[in-house]
Amino acid sequence: MFPRLWLLGLLACSFVNAEYYNTKTADKDFLLKQKKVYNLLYHVSQPAEINYTWYEEGQKWDIEANINLYSNPAAVKEFLYMYKNSMLPRGEVFSLYYPYLLKEMVALFRLFYYANDFETFYKTALWARNNINEGEYIIAFYNAVIRRQDTKFIQLPPPYEVCPYLFFNSEVLQKSHHASLSDLRETSGEYKTYIFRANYSGWYMNREYYLENKLNYFMEDIGLNAYYFFFRQSFPFWMSSSEFGFQDYRGAEYLYGHQQIMNRYYLERLTNELPNLEDFDWEKPFYAGYYPTMTYQNGLPFPQRPEWSNFPSYKYKYITDIKDKESRIMSAIDTGYVFGNGTTKYYIYNEDGLNILGNIIEGNEDSFNQRFYGSIDALGRKILGYNLEPSSKYKILPSALEIFSTSLRDPAFYRLYKRIVDLYYRYKMHQTPYNKDELIYPNLKIESFSIDKLITYFEQFDTTISNGLFMDAQKDDKLPLIKIRQPRLNHKPFNFHITINSDKAMKAAIRIFLGPKYSSHHKLYELPENLKYFYEIDNWILDLNAGLNKITRNSQECFFTINDQEPSEVFYSKLEASLYSDKTFNYYERIFGFPERLLLPKGKKEGMPFQLFLYVSPVSTEYQFTSRIWGDYKFDNRPFGFPLDKPLDNFNYDGPNMLFKDILIYHKEEFDINITY
Ligand SMILES: *[C@@H]1O[C@H](CO)[C@@H](O)[C@H](O)[C@H]1NC(C)=O
Ligand SMILES: *[C@@H]1O[C@H](CO)[C@@H](O)[C@H](O)[C@H]1NC(C)=O
Ligand SMILES: *[C@@H]1O[C@H](CO)[C@@H](O)[C@H](O)[C@H]1NC(C)=O
Repeated sequence: MFPRLWLLGLLACSFVNAEYYNTKTADKDFLLKQKKVYNLLYHVSQPAEINYTWYEEGQKWDIEANINLYSNPAAVKEFLYMYKNSMLPRGEVFSLYYPYLLKEMVALFRLFYYANDFETFYKTALWARNNINEGEYIIAFYNAVIRRQDTKFIQLPPPYEVCPYLFFNSEVLQKSHHASLSDLRETSGEYKTYIFRANYSGWYMNREYYLENKLNYFMEDIGLNAYYFFFRQSFPFWMSSSEFGFQDYRGAEYLYGHQQIMNRYYLERLTNELPNLEDFDWEKPFYAGYYPTMTYQNGLPFPQRPEWSNFPSYKYKYITDIKDKESRIMSAIDTGYVFGNGTTKYYIYNEDGLNILGNIIEGNEDSFNQRFYGSIDALGRKILGYNLEPSSKYKILPSALEIFSTSLRDPAFYRLYKRIVDLYYRYKMHQTPYNKDELIYPNLKIESFSIDKLITYFEQFDTTISNGLFMDAQKDDKLPLIKIRQPRLNHKPFNFHITINSDKAMKAAIRIFLGPKYSSHHKLYELPENLKYFYEIDNWILDLNAGLNKITRNSQECFFTINDQEPSEVFYSKLEASLYSDKTFNYYERIFGFPERLLLPKGKKEGMPFQLFLYVSPVSTEYQFTSRIWGDYKFDNRPFGFPLDKPLDNFNYDGPNMLFKDILIYHKEEFDINITY
């Protein structure tokens, strides 16, 4: 070992830098739009009380008289027709999983989307904010900002600020309505601030033998839930590729994105000594209960599901349906053919196959046959939520699974998606394994791979939620800020140190996966069986020089992660400072990402064993990934999850350009975080 290190020192090493996401400096036009977008999401439920000027401006806008200002008059007419007949009243709960409510929201979204210019969009949104149901308005508005050409990369406030009741438990929100009860007060700048402390669900009603609660800090993490919200806005199931020009991997991203969430979740289970997920049967009692202590903004509680309960009889019709649809999808996977809606059949063991499969499983607008394959995603949520049927079409009580911002809180989510991801594996396992030559590149040799000490800990984080609360309008003073202080998982920043020997200068792709080492029963995982649990934490392209290349990659750079968004009040005052003075305002050309804090699963005091898999290969072709949410990024054009995405055949991933490495993740309690080991 030592002679090798010494040699390394003598040889000329090249240091290779990584790329960052672009930041841009905002111009005046951007700043003005950005400010208006934030204004449009400010206290959505009280437009008239909060700013009468905006309210009046919205009420003055006449859509019908200005129909020539929208590029798709049919979309305008459709919306107006609905609006004049009936739409979900303000104050009621909204969910995308009720077809008539979805139709209303889509009509509103299309009205926003087809406004010819920003001014028309702005006026339309001001009007809608006064007159349309808040939930429909918020979803349509977020999607319009994400899709419109003239609002490219305009930032959106994190959803936990706009809809805090979808992210925090009732007892905290209840207290926060009475600022005077707060035991912590601060004055920061021009704002009076009241802070309430919050815990995760389990501490209030502990069910001693219900182990799923151990994961509440993860499943209820507001950053994780906001990530899932944005993930599902990336290709909303209700949009069709033909209308919105989607890339042809939406179905594949749906499957792989969920597989990644599942793998991240499994790592968190392991470190909490929880076994693998059990299977379930639609005919038998369902193990995982869910006891949310959450309340919708209209006062109705989130539905609960008792542990080990039978599926209620009012779900039977959906159960019949989902069983048929699951078996149709299985036969598509096993025969290799998906039936279109006419006489066409589509073969799925080719380049486009995974995408076709993802589309029929999600049952999105691109599904080749919605009637035949339905949507097991939607049906599964409908059944497992245990919520009652609405008594009239505008009185719904959706379950946590029927709202993207709350789905990850319910343990049933992971049972359902295990089933869906199993379909993905079934498809993958029918494919021919990679041939060794497709994976081994002898001209690229990993000389060393090390990682700084990995330490996780809990830190307190304050979320401003006043924007989503009912406030007494105040004439002159700024409204006070109400914040919730909650502990959240984080880790110390760390670096990967990689040395690669390349026989010539080339563009290479590096992939790093994090996976389990031992099962929850402390049994060593065998190779093929554990590969599917590996979670891709980084993937980037770099230029290698001939000879030795020393690479340092920081955890902050990992390809899909993002730091916490600034609280809106901070963001907004920076905007104003830039508008009314010459301060520059920088923004990222992306809206959201996976929370960097959650890159690593919680460790253990004595160190929790995991393993990393490092893989280096020449770039096949560069693929320019573009997304209004995740930003632009250049990838090596290979399948999602490459090279771990196919069955293994007499190969143990033991080439020179790949490496497994055992690691330990440590966890520090709050009180000893500043002690250095
Ligand atoms: C309402 O908005 C207008 C225009 O943006 C602004 O001048 C006014 O101060 C605001 N009023 C209140 C009460 O915030
Ligand atoms: C949080 O939970 C701890 C026990 O785990 C309890 O002592 C504390 O009072 C709780 N705090 C709040 C604000 O609910
Ligand atoms: C089949 O779907 C296409 C669009 O995907 C649609 O244009 C066509 O009308 C459908 N045919 C039938 C028979 O439903």
